[in-house]
Amino acid sequence: MLKVKKLSKVYKSGGRDVQAIDNVNLELSEGRFVSIIGRSGSGKSTLLNLLGGLDKPTTGEIIVDGIDITNMSDHALISYRGQKIGFIFQSYNLVPNLSAVENVMLPMEFIGVPKSERYTRAINLLEQVGFTNEEIKRKPSRLSGGQQQRVAIARALANKPKLILADEPTGNLDSHTGKIIFELLKKLSKSQKTTIIVVTHDLEIAQKTDQTYNLKDGKLKK
Ligand SMILES: Nc1ncnc2c1ncn2[C@@H]1O[C@H](COP(=O)(O)OP(=O)(O)OP(=O)(O)O)[C@@H](O)[C@H]1O
Ligand SMILES: [Mg+2]
Repeated sequence: MLKVKKLSKVYKSGGRDVQAIDNVNLELSEGRFVSIIGRSGSGKSTLLNLLGGLDKPTTGEIIVDGIDITNMSDHALISYRGQKIGFIFQSYNLVPNLSAVENVMLPMEFIGVPKSERYTRAINLLEQVGFTNEEIKRKPSRLSGGQQQRVAIARALANKPKLILADEPTGNLDSHTGKIIFELLKKLSKSQKTTIIVVTHDLEIAQKTDQTYNLKDGKLKK
């Protein structure tokens, strides 16, 4: 499902080179649920951004579902992301002037899901991450950090993606809510055969995934 070959990313910063990702190889089949742990600055977000086509690698190849995304045009990448990828960002990236339910409906609009279905599916997803009928109408500024994180999770699931890239999806949740979200992702990986990569600092959560990888100075190890 996912094949990463000799992937590297070098950032040029103030005349210096920062090797954020260093020769990473990774192969994951459908329905695998894996975690990546590593210190701050080890390259975790960079790796997820590369896999999601949000950033271009310096060298290497990324093949998702048989398609090489490394040389895709920006236009093609937008459609690739909309259809195949569910991204849960470390900083949520919700649209501030849209309500919770509208945020979840937005990705469905991009791929042409009819409006009534968008609404039903969004409500259903928000219910699964524990939202009430009143909360779904609120804009992000009126939601707590953990609630915003759960909207971001619901939004990532909206288009039934083949690959979910989650950057600390439970980072702002209490341990009970974190477990519920984790179980939801796990259920998805098994029932829908969704491949999930989750970056986490929570070793308890990492241990419950099929495989944990350790990223150190841009190098990925099991
Ligand atoms: N746009 C950029 N320009 C220059 N350097 C960058 C850029 N983005 C990230 N870096 C550097 O690349 C390295 C990896 O950063 P990254 O954000 O991937 O770390 P991380 O593992 O996600 O850390 P954290 O746990 O703090 O989120 C760091 O040294 C960072 O400073
Ligand atoms: Mg990060």
